[in-house]
Amino acid sequence: MEMDPTKLSGKVAIVTGASSGIGLATARLLASHGVKVALVSRSKEKLDKLSAELPGSLAVPADMTEIPQVKRMVERARDHFGRIDILINNAGRGYDAPVELIDIATFRYIYDLNVVGPLVAMQQVIPIMRKQGGGTIINLSSGTALMDLPGMSPYSSSKKALAGISLAARQELQGDGIVVSVAFPYITITEFEKNTIRAVPVSENQIEPTGPYPSDSAEFVAERLVEGILTGEAEIFSHDWQKGGGRGEE
Ligand SMILES: NC(=O)c1ccc[n+]([C@@H]2O[C@H](COP(=O)([O-])OP(=O)(O)OC[C@H]3O[C@@H](n4cnc5c(N)ncnc54)[C@H](OP(=O)(O)O)[C@@H]3O)[C@@H](O)[C@H]2O)c1
Repeated sequence: MEMDPTKLSGKVAIVTGASSGIGLATARLLASHGVKVALVSRSKEKLDKLSAELPGSLAVPADMTEIPQVKRMVERARDHFGRIDILINNAGRGYDAPVELIDIATFRYIYDLNVVGPLVAMQQVIPIMRKQGGGTIINLSSGTALMDLPGMSPYSSSKKALAGISLAARQELQGDGIVVSVAFPYITITEFEKNTIRAVPVSENQIEPTGPYPSDSAEFVAERLVEGILTGEAEIFSHDWQKGGGRGEE
């Protein structure tokens, strides 16, 4: 398929988690291609600053764990721009704990953020996109969703759930011209590690040593997401070796 980002010019995108990391890089990259971006996260000041930097963008502060705020966020974007062509469900956070020690309130919070918020955002944009004749939804899962990592199940299971919802919705919506994709970023240099909630110190958890693994920049992942918008591929991997199931083992 032809990869011409100039054809994104004039389109309208919602990017959640736009104040940091992958969402910030994606918002910047989309804006550089002429996309009008609704910038979503909890940090109003950061979004206002970013909005002043990106022509045509709009800061829409919202807590993605609060369903009424998710609904209002989509309404605000639609009312301001008159349409929504692209939803990038990127806001998310880690929670690492061995199963025995999972705190249920924290588990629910992480599922609200990583699964329920993106689901509600999808439910809000689907009728808008259907009426327009199509659209693109990309949900940010994680490379950890392709693996079963001890000590990481609260996070990785939430990302498995989001991947499952994404690929079912892809089939449900194909007749409406709405393309749903799921992205599986590999280790990416962002604020993610700092923001991950941990039940026990890393050294006491069962997560494999973090080792000298290679990592990606947020800008690299943003490029892959924009390619994913253009190709409409179902699963957006950061690296081809992830296609085999995550670890890169033969
Ligand atoms: N970094 C990695 O290695 C990696 C790998 C695979 C997948 N991912 C996924 O990529 C996505 C982006 O993560 P990142 O690495 O860019 O992390 P990050 O730098 O920590 O950014 C997370 C973003 O989510 C927003 N956010 C957090 N809680 C929120 C809430 N309740 N409501 C609205 N927004 C909220 C944050 O903004 P505010 O704090 O301003 O609300 C921030 O903009 C996540 O879904 C993550 O799971 C990351």
